[in-house]
Amino acid sequence: MAEPIKAEIFGSLPGGDVVEAFDLKGPAGLSARVITLGGIVTHLRAPDRRGDAADVVLGFNNLAGYLAPHPYFGAIAGRVAGRISQGRFQLDGREYSLACNDPPNHLHGGDRGFDKRLWNSEPLDRADGAASLRLSRLSADGEEGYPGNLRVSVIYTVTAANELVIETEATTDRPTPVNLTHHSYFNLAGEGSCSVESHQLQVFAGSYAPADAASGLTGRREPVTDNDLRTPKRLGDVIPNLRGRHGDLYFIDRAAPAGLVDVARLVDPASGRAMTVRSTETCVQFYTGVGLDGTLVGKSGRKYGPFAGLCLECEGFPDGVNRPELGNIVLRPGEVSRHTTVYAFSTL
Ligand code: GLA
Repeated sequence: MAEPIKAEIFGSLPGGDVVEAFDLKGPAGLSARVITLGGIVTHLRAPDRRGDAADVVLGFNNLAGYLAPHPYFGAIAGRVAGRISQGRFQLDGREYSLACNDPPNHLHGGDRGFDKRLWNSEPLDRADGAASLRLSRLSADGEEGYPGNLRVSVIYTVTAANELVIETEATTDRPTPVNLTHHSYFNLAGEGSCSVESHQLQVFAGSYAPADAASGLTGRREPVTDNDLRTPKRLGDVIPNLRGRHGDLYFIDRAAPAGLVDVARLVDPASGRAMTVRSTETCVQFYTGVGLDGTLVGKSGRKYGPFAGLCLECEGFPDGVNRPELGNIVLRPGEVSRHTTVYAFSTL
């Protein structure tokens, strides 16, 4: 029997609420640290080809880092991750307007999205002994302008196969758009060590959603061009050709409408670490980390500059409430929205 995971105190919020931290340790070397603020994965340690572990996600050692502005390091983004154009949508004949916190668009749930909220925690006893933590919260009707009381849970599990598994579930009492994602910035050489330009990335997608200069989705679906990553490419060669060196939202190739499929594969040739991403979601936002500008100092005391880490955010089509033909994200009472995303670590 594996030992039950225990809560540690990570810090206290200005109002006095305690933020807990949990260590999820797998028997094959992968371990994750998760805090109850934002469902943030603060640390993710994975072995290299010699068995030496490094922390492969960007983040901070203390709560102060996460309370100051930062670009969603390790967090659960919601109620709608990604951008809703102009922060507006219509649902069942009613008009809703949301915070345009990434002008002129709404981003990652608004001014105080799920990434900035305190979640309830419950360590789970799994039959296979894997370390597992359930986080949950009620996003009340009207929170950040969204309709309906949304009950949401996220289960993080570290498996014996060196996978970080993220299972999300949501139910509502009024129709509402829902789109959750996990927003870790990965660097398989170890956070703070180098830029991800030396990594190779493959994304299993033949089409993408073109965006405008402000990253607003244009509501089109087009075949990949310079951003075609269906064969693995060195990111240093690819990034200069991407819009704003930012990365794109891809529609994941899938033969069947449901089920886990391969989304992406990231390799650091130097350490031999590889990460395969699988998901039940329809889209993945590849973000290069171009916006990191060296002002944030990470866990190892080093500054995070451009491309210090990249995101592979599995999600539905973020503007699906306005463009249902590209992927409906509206959840209605009586329905359950369930998704799974797996980040699986191995070595070459
Ligand atoms: C997402 C977006 C990026 C950026 C980051 C956070 O990945 O696609 O444009 O906003 O979040 O900085």
